[in-house]
Amino acid sequence: MASEEKVELKRGLRDVYIDRTKSSFIDGKVGKLLYRGINIDDLAQKSTFEETIYLLLYTELPTESQLKAFQAELIANRALPEDILSIIEIVKDSHPMDVLRTGVSALSAFDPETEDISTEATIRKGVRLTAQAPTIVAAHARIRKGKDPIAPSTSLNQAANFLYMLFGEEPDPRDARLIDKDFILHAEHGINASSFGARVTASTQADLHCAVTTGIGVLKGPAHGGAAEEVMKMALDIGDEDKAEDYVRNLLKDGGRVMGFGHRVYRATDPRAFHLKDDAKELGERKGQPKWFSILESVTKVMEPYTRRGICQNVDFFSGAIYYLLGIPDDLFISIFAMGRIPGWTVQVVEQFENNILLRPRLQYVGEMDVPYVPIEDR
Ligand SMILES: CC(C)(COP(=O)(O)OP(=O)(O)OC[C@H]1O[C@@H](n2cnc3c(N)ncnc32)[C@H](O)[C@@H]1OP(=O)(O)O)[C@@H](O)C(=O)NCCC(=O)NCCS
Repeated sequence: MASEEKVELKRGLRDVYIDRTKSSFIDGKVGKLLYRGINIDDLAQKSTFEETIYLLLYTELPTESQLKAFQAELIANRALPEDILSIIEIVKDSHPMDVLRTGVSALSAFDPETEDISTEATIRKGVRLTAQAPTIVAAHARIRKGKDPIAPSTSLNQAANFLYMLFGEEPDPRDARLIDKDFILHAEHGINASSFGARVTASTQADLHCAVTTGIGVLKGPAHGGAAEEVMKMALDIGDEDKAEDYVRNLLKDGGRVMGFGHRVYRATDPRAFHLKDDAKELGERKGQPKWFSILESVTKVMEPYTRRGICQNVDFFSGAIYYLLGIPDDLFISIFAMGRIPGWTVQVVEQFENNILLRPRLQYVGEMDVPYVPIEDR
């Protein structure tokens, strides 16, 4: 007979608060997001990814000289050890997120402070991983096509340098700014699934490389970071805005989910989606391909009854179209999210370390009890 133990189950940890944070604030009812108290709208419009990383890691916006020194630190840490490039070559046929996860994990062998879990060392490692991640992703994208990786730029910012290493030429500043904004919007988001995973890892006092490796693994799933790729696949499948209605209705009728809609916390439109919406529209017009935005608009229209129930556009709904229009291969979309999120994972890990408690919930056992062991010859 199963255990009779009476417990209150919180499946999915829905609405469970596990700790306090000073890193980001989310109001899911009105769709508001703050990093260190500053509205994401201001950061998206006025800040840069470099400045936002600094804000998250060091708790306040940098002065001009602090920002300059910080940019130099990022640039100085972009190059990868030759051995990491060899590892990328070995695993080049894996999904880019698996390659990123493997690369980050392997970097632990080369970092001078891997096992130092002090706040200062964790932040330094967070900066290094933020600098190194785009190099892994871009190097892999080239190596798998038989091309040589491009050495990171010593002058471009994170976003422009990523596009440069991917395509081999300095990007249009407008394109670089879109990736810059995308990185800002993905930088931190409280105790989302991947940050929770990173925190669980940190709660055992494992180090940042372990925690970020966990975070990348958790982010890969379509319910989390994988949605942008799925949204663009959906738009490509639909192919024409007139076909969007039938496509979405059939999908929902069969119990499917429209990717890029719904969120565990937001019951209003994800505030990050507003910025990416305008960008996706403008970029589509600039590239002479307005149809993808029109298809997404048609999907949104069919989803109106869901929106009224609180299932609204999330950050991934428009980001896929932006990456696609920039010519980025679709299996790299989640890796862009990961590159932007490394500062967020880092601050969550720092907070976990600074007031640590082992994250170890319980499961209610509902299986058989006291089953006799049958020797193999009697089975
Ligand atoms: C993000 C997500 C996993 C959150 O899920 P959740 O908080 O666990 O919510 P649930 O899965 O319990 O969904 C609640 C209800 O909304 C519906 N729903 C949620 N997202 C939906 C979507 N994208 N399309 C259609 N229906 C959706 C569910 O079917 C469920 O309906 P029911 O109560 O009638 O069974 C979910 O909204 C989803 O799968 N979205 C698509 C993937 C995506 O865009 N992920 C990126 C998140 S940033």
